[in-house]
Amino acid sequence: MNSFVFQMPTKVYFGEGQITHLPVPDELKQLGTKVLLVYGGGSIKKSGLYQKITTLMEQAGIEFAELSGVDPNPRLASVEAGATLCKKENVDVVLAVGGGSVIDCAKAIAAASQYDGKAWDLISGKEQVIKALPVVTVLTLAATGSEMDNCSVITNTETKEKVGLLNSVLVPKVSFLDPTLTYSVSKFQTASGSADILSHVLEVYFNMNRDLEMLDREMEGLMKTVVKFAPIALEKPDDYEARANLMWAASWAINGFINGGKVQMWSCHPMEHELSAFYDIAHGLGLAILTPRWMEYVLDETTAPKFYDYGVNVFGMDPTLPVMEAAKQSIERTEEFLFDKLGLPRTLTEIGIDGTNLERMAEKACGNGVIPAFRPLGKEDILTIYKMCL
Ligand code: NZQ
Ligand code: ZN
Repeated sequence: MNSFVFQMPTKVYFGEGQITHLPVPDELKQLGTKVLLVYGGGSIKKSGLYQKITTLMEQAGIEFAELSGVDPNPRLASVEAGATLCKKENVDVVLAVGGGSVIDCAKAIAAASQYDGKAWDLISGKEQVIKALPVVTVLTLAATGSEMDNCSVITNTETKEKVGLLNSVLVPKVSFLDPTLTYSVSKFQTASGSADILSHVLEVYFNMNRDLEMLDREMEGLMKTVVKFAPIALEKPDDYEARANLMWAASWAINGFINGGKVQMWSCHPMEHELSAFYDIAHGLGLAILTPRWMEYVLDETTAPKFYDYGVNVFGMDPTLPVMEAAKQSIERTEEFLFDKLGLPRTLTEIGIDGTNLERMAEKACGNGVIPAFRPLGKEDILTIYKMCL
């Protein structure tokens, strides 16, 4: 068991109505006087949230500039535009209102605005992020956990690179989590988001490092929460309990709590980031297609006991089953959840992706080396998994 440091600096306002009164402008005022409001393709205008937030800021005398049109799988161009605006308008706090893409873009803007060179230098890791403007978020989609983590994932469409920038200065200072804001999320995005939450836990759970057993049980609880409430949110989009449970599970799946002292090396995420970099698909959808095939690929005598725990403790499978049998059934239960209950497509072929770029993607996913994950994955392993997904 390794020692570790855990710090969670995000102040969270959770629950219905948390944005409708004073906290948003109050919290912004404590961080600065000029705000950059960042949002996506219009969902917040349709829902009335844009009007609410801008009115609150105007009433409180807060000046703000705006960056709209952040795409799902946010682009470098939005980051550059936002950073330029921040410099021009002397912005001192970035307010993201939207899903993970908007928040990720806001975080990258917050860092790039404090740097004189090219934003991509920071995102690609060529240069170290030293400082960033404070970020405040109003979350509208339960999925990535960006509202409470240190990560920003940005796509360079020219080079077809999708890169995760990790730095503690990017962790939002304040996040407003009102589950009712997610009532309008489409069935597809609800399903993709739920697959993403599940994957964030699986990436940590399937780890060969022995660590605190308490964390394994916490992870199983998070996964059970997703398995229970995602189908309810799909059936009844305004079910408060379901939306609230998904929202809080999303934040805790990736805010560092479940990591403990385990060496972190994820498997499905690097493979998925190539899929969405090349084909601009929804991140959670890519993960859903990859996960069961990756599970099949890594299952052997040494990894089976972990799958047994997963099957018994998350899906309530019969504990008297032989370990390998339980492991295989746990993969079937995962498929049943992702494809039958959430209704996501099963294969890359179904979403129009063929074998054309798989070799290049496999090379890039492992950086032409080996991902030292639950089971180490080199180019040929990844290529095989991609092919299993066709
Ligand atoms: O752009 P708008 O109009 O807001 O519409 C969005 C978008 O079209 C819509 N949406 C969001 N909230 C809504 C809503 N529609 C109706 N009602 C609402 N309340 O949903 C669509 C998808 O939004 P997006 O933000 O792209 O989804 P998500 O939150 O899943 O974010 C995905 C991005 O986050 C990255 C992914 O790679 C992807 O780029 N990730 C970020 C991580 C992090 N920061 O830690 C980790 C993840 O593993 C992931 O890589
Ligand atoms: Zn993810």
